[in-house]
Amino acid sequence: MGPPRQRIITTLLLIATLFFSGAPAAAHDQATPGLHPVILLPGYSCSQLDARLTDDYEPPTPACGVRKQGRGWFRLWENYTALQEDPALLPCYQDQLHLVYDHAAGDYRNAPGVETRVVSFGTTRSFRFDDPVQKNACLERLVEALEGAGYKEGSNLFGAPYDFRYAPAAPGVAARSFAGFRSRLTRLIERASEMNGNKPVIIVTHSFGGDYALEFLHQSPLPWRRRYVKHFVVLCAGIGGSPLIMQVVASTMGSPPPPPTLLGTVLSLGNRSFEVIPFFLPSPKVYGDRPLVITRAKNYSAENMPEFLAAVGFSDDEIARYRTRALPLTLNIRAPLVPMTCISGIGVPTIDRLVYSDANFTEKPQVVNGDGDGIVNLENVLALERFIGNDPAQPYFKSVFIPNTTHNGMISDDSALKLVVTEILKASQATS
Ligand SMILES: *[C@@H]1O[C@H](CO)[C@@H](O)[C@H](O)[C@H]1NC(C)=O
Ligand SMILES: *[C@@H]1O[C@H](CO)[C@@H](O)[C@H](O)[C@H]1NC(C)=O
Ligand SMILES: *[C@@H]1O[C@H](CO)[C@@H](O)[C@H](O)[C@H]1NC(C)=O
Ligand SMILES: *[C@@H]1O[C@H](CO)[C@@H](O)[C@H](O)[C@H]1NC(C)=O
Ligand SMILES: *[C@@H]1O[C@H](CO)[C@@H](O)[C@H](O)[C@H]1NC(C)=O
Repeated sequence: MGPPRQRIITTLLLIATLFFSGAPAAAHDQATPGLHPVILLPGYSCSQLDARLTDDYEPPTPACGVRKQGRGWFRLWENYTALQEDPALLPCYQDQLHLVYDHAAGDYRNAPGVETRVVSFGTTRSFRFDDPVQKNACLERLVEALEGAGYKEGSNLFGAPYDFRYAPAAPGVAARSFAGFRSRLTRLIERASEMNGNKPVIIVTHSFGGDYALEFLHQSPLPWRRRYVKHFVVLCAGIGGSPLIMQVVASTMGSPPPPPTLLGTVLSLGNRSFEVIPFFLPSPKVYGDRPLVITRAKNYSAENMPEFLAAVGFSDDEIARYRTRALPLTLNIRAPLVPMTCISGIGVPTIDRLVYSDANFTEKPQVVNGDGDGIVNLENVLALERFIGNDPAQPYFKSVFIPNTTHNGMISDDSALKLVVTEILKASQATS
């Protein structure tokens, strides 16, 4: 018999009737014994970053250098309060967040004179934002729902924030940020397991957190994965990239970034300097040679991405880095060989193709929508079923679709959250 794999399409009616039982209301201040520890990885822009400026920092305007005198750590991402009070700080944020490519090291680095660190690694505190928009886009509500089901921060519930400007990297590629993340996550998982009677952990990710976790798993030895990871629960997996990013990339030529505006804005913040932007481009493994950007004279698919990048003004160097860093990783989607459940939203219009008839990338494109969760296309989820679910070596794979659920709705709508928590508890109770 092959490994069990199933696809489930829930209906809203079913979700509405789903209530998890074994979660007494009194469980709020104490972890329920017996649960497998949960490690959460949030989506893009959902980890807070602190920064510190050194003498090497050259501020673009004098106001941006004021922090140099203070010397201390300050909240760089996301200091919503500061931005609300003083929008003139935006260029400072942009300057202090941008990355540079260090040719000697063959790796990305912070801007000179800017030191950064992820806030509160190991906890979910880094995912909590003052910004009302970030609240529903990050994992705060899922943390609350898990606490309602018997999980407790620091006992059996942990967070693995990461510097979302940097991308995961393949073995052998210089990648200081990702290598640092991998060793911290390895230690966190081992500690979480030890604190919970040596039970293996459940890794739960939303959106880009899934890309980080999948590459982390690939680069961890198989016996370690089998010992420490009970289940991998992937919400709204965008693994394999998205046509929406082609609009983000084209917008650096002056055209409007795509809605939803938060993602467009946050991606544009890096103005192409973030390592992660080429990593998010559609993978040929998922999108093949289907035209994604259509112009009168020429079409661009995932397979001729370098030509598209050249057309929107990327330098030869930037294109070379797309080929050597981003592409090999996005071509390498494969089974993590630990039990896996994907939960995805469908039924929401999602950017599928862009039409710039005159190939004028400073103009607003005409957008053709497909199916998905508003950000991640259905095609990405079907690719995971194809490359992971159908791999005979993959021990368990289940794909659950929730109709009419958006990318952020998955982690903020009560009905979707209930289903997500139910799946996590099921994974915790599974005997295999
Ligand atoms: C946010 O920025 C404001 C104004 O620059 C500063 O006073 C505050 O300390 C910052 N918040 C954090 C958490 O660093
Ligand atoms: C963004 O990058 C482009 C190309 O490198 C550059 O011309 C432009 O000035 C940058 N914009 C900002 C706001 O930094
Ligand atoms: C581009 O793709 C569209 C839609 O698939 C197709 O109708 C058109 O002929 C293609 N144009 C070129 C120049 O290949
Ligand atoms: C591209 O579009 C912009 C904005 O509509 C316009 O100003 C510009 O002249 C166009 N460029 C070309 C080459 O047609
Ligand atoms: C999803 O939303 C559409 C439009 O609002 C509606 O027609 C459809 O019945 C909904 N589907 C489900 C399964 O709720």
